[in-house]
Amino acid sequence: MTVTIVGSQLGDEGKGGIVDVYGDAVDVVVRYQGGDNAGHTVVSEGDEYKLSLVPSGAVRGKIGVLGNGCVVNPNTLFEELDVLSERELSPDVRVAERAHVILPYHRIIDGMEEDVKSDDNLAAGTTGRGIGPTYEDKAGRRGVRIGDLLDPETLRERLEYVVPQKRALVEDVYGIEIGEDVDGDAFDVDTLFETYLAFGERIEREEMAVNCGEFLQARLDAGDEIMFEGAQGTSIDIDHGIYPYVTSSNPTAGGAAVGTGVGPTVIGQGEVVGIVKAYLSRVGTGPLPTELGSVDGQTPENGGRQDESELATYIRDKGGEYGTVTGRPRRVGWLDMPMLRHATRANGFTGLAINHIDVLAGLDEVRVGHSYTLDGEELLSMPATTEKWDDCEAEFRTFDGWDDVDWAAVAAEDYDAVPENARTYLEYIAEELETPIYAIGVGPGREETVIVESPI
Ligand code: IMP
Repeated sequence: MTVTIVGSQLGDEGKGGIVDVYGDAVDVVVRYQGGDNAGHTVVSEGDEYKLSLVPSGAVRGKIGVLGNGCVVNPNTLFEELDVLSERELSPDVRVAERAHVILPYHRIIDGMEEDVKSDDNLAAGTTGRGIGPTYEDKAGRRGVRIGDLLDPETLRERLEYVVPQKRALVEDVYGIEIGEDVDGDAFDVDTLFETYLAFGERIEREEMAVNCGEFLQARLDAGDEIMFEGAQGTSIDIDHGIYPYVTSSNPTAGGAAVGTGVGPTVIGQGEVVGIVKAYLSRVGTGPLPTELGSVDGQTPENGGRQDESELATYIRDKGGEYGTVTGRPRRVGWLDMPMLRHATRANGFTGLAINHIDVLAGLDEVRVGHSYTLDGEELLSMPATTEKWDDCEAEFRTFDGWDDVDWAAVAAEDYDAVPENARTYLEYIAEELETPIYAIGVGPGREETVIVESPI
């Protein structure tokens, strides 16, 4: 039995909390894409852990796997494992031999390209973790994989081929002096070889490397429950998102098969839970039709009922909408239903977990982008190009707000304890998406979740 958890919007939907809640019932938690661009905070027995690579379930004694679709920065991986072991946790983390390795030059090149793109407003606002350049090398068949770190001859061969290309890119294309403007060690074959061989030795010593698909199939055959933990979200998927303001992997459910080696027919027999934030937030760049503060400049002075920039600040602060990895304040907007209809189809959601209902509490009214108007026509789903998406005007529906209540008490009861107006809002979402609600997040803690149904 498998359950796949997928972000339905732009990332940061609160997937970690749901992974946590449902994770108790599984034996293995697997990440299938992305790298240390995904930040999540895990609270366990009063202790807080900030993780960006290690699957959160690993803190709770589950086996954590980084699948072949991930890009792995061994520095981050071992830093996180060392912090956890200083706190007397010894998580069982495995890494796919087929996963690609983020090298120091990837991070440097990520920053350079963003700088250049920002002149033309094309920067994706990346996390600067080298994600895009690593996936580029994977697709360009010049990447270094975890398995290569375990084999000195192959590692040297790979580095000797690729590093001169990176040097040329940096010096000849970007006109940047290696050793002066950027760290020379990041572009030195011998230094990289020594450092990454040592990482490989540790991976080997700690028996972390796995043939991912085989490892997971053996666990399934033994009767284990597996959770596939998507990072980021559908609208920043490289194929189904708002290209080019996307990440470079596939957070969508199909990525779970490709990124782990477990067949789509196996994953398709399980559940696919879409995590929805009750509003939108976005750390990166690009259009956002339901964005607050820039949509229609509504203020009480000009006849509007609520001041949008104040509203944005209210939601940002109440929802803690600041990047986990970067600390950047996030842009916020109303829920975007065309985005969710697109995500529901692309992922085949079998259930929804809707988070942050508590953050919207206390507002007079809550709005939802129900559809778009594009060139005089009504659209119920997202257009395929980001340029057209930018031209879409959101058509809003307005719901009566709900009061702030004792959310912990609500979570301790059941769905009927959720304020009536909030239920009307939730039921609208479920009906529009023709997908049942499995859980409602009413606060940041794992116990502040109303569980309607467990997918496991
Ligand atoms: P990258 O993944 O660092 O290459 O960044 C590409 C785009 O994805 C940028 O707009 C980032 O802000 C966004 N992004 C990457 N990871 C996350 C995440 O975990 N949550 C939300 N946005 C993300």
